[in-house]
Amino acid sequence: MALADFLKELDALAASATAAFQASSDPSALEAARIEYVGAKQGRLKAVQKNMGQVDPADRPLAGKRLNEVKAEIERAMVMATERLTAGKGAAGPVKPFDPTLPGRPVRLGRLHPITQTIDELIAIMGRLGFSVADGPEIEDEWHNFEALNIPLEHPARDPLDNFYLSVAGRGRTAMLLRSQTSTVQIRVMERTPPPVRIITLGRVYRPDTADATHYPMFHQMEGLLVDRRVTMADLKSVLRMFATSYLGSEVRIRFRPSFFPFTEPSVEVDYHWNDQWIEFGGAGMVDPNVLRAVGYDPEDVTGFAFGLGVERLCMRRHHITDIREFYRNDIRFLHQF
Ligand code: FA5
Repeated sequence: MALADFLKELDALAASATAAFQASSDPSALEAARIEYVGAKQGRLKAVQKNMGQVDPADRPLAGKRLNEVKAEIERAMVMATERLTAGKGAAGPVKPFDPTLPGRPVRLGRLHPITQTIDELIAIMGRLGFSVADGPEIEDEWHNFEALNIPLEHPARDPLDNFYLSVAGRGRTAMLLRSQTSTVQIRVMERTPPPVRIITLGRVYRPDTADATHYPMFHQMEGLLVDRRVTMADLKSVLRMFATSYLGSEVRIRFRPSFFPFTEPSVEVDYHWNDQWIEFGGAGMVDPNVLRAVGYDPEDVTGFAFGLGVERLCMRRHHITDIREFYRNDIRFLHQF
């Protein structure tokens, strides 16, 4: 190919490309011009460039020089057109053309926190056993957190070092505190409902415990309360066993150990045997007659059982989590596994 012909082709290309960019009146026209002239695969610049191989080798340096000039001219025209179309729109630089063939960016979907998932599952299991869900406040007065639960003023459980008090008692005014157990909701429900009652409540409780692998100063409990005529300890055990086999599997075994809680008599610690070890999940017992009296029930007429289990510990068993602090570190790599 003669040098003159090649240069003529280059000039024609430069003129037509510059005109096309100048005439672009919107981003889609600009993009069409870009593809037509400088498109990587079939752009006209590419096509002309290929012809350089046919130019006499002696003329190639000259041809190459002009080719580079034309490339720069076209580039300039494109940048100017881009700037003209984005002027006043606050864009910092030339608009990157949108390439619809690129793969999309994956959207990271959020998910429910493992404790929320556990709570939903516990509600479903207990719902099948006939328990409905009740609720109560996390900021409590001393009556609901202690007094009505048979925990008198001098009881060590009321020590300021063992509770998060928010205010002190004054003349005719109760102290307020972050509830240390969900047993408070037993009282709230019985105060407003005549027997029979059959409820669970799930929520946060607060204790000034030092955080370690199995303790956290804020954790969740599932409280259960059933009051009716002729309720016995056998009912308590069978409900907790049915619950455990639903949540942890049919191989799980249950054990009651004698214990003491001011609001139940008799009281037990509830252990589940699973994966070759006995683990304590909570406390339980028959509702103390003093508690029934405090809410206006007649202990001669009705009896009941109550239990309180640690939700984090249940979830940890189920998913083989070894450190309770993982739940509250907000590390997405951990949370995304559930
Ligand atoms: C109670 O809180 C009683 N209210 C339970 C109860 C309810 C007894 C109804 C009788 C009738 P306890 O303090 O043992 O009991 O706590 C119950 C469970 O909460 C423990 O077994 C444990 O699983 C969990 N738990 C206690 N402290 C912590 C903590 N700091 N971090 C995580 N879980 C805890």
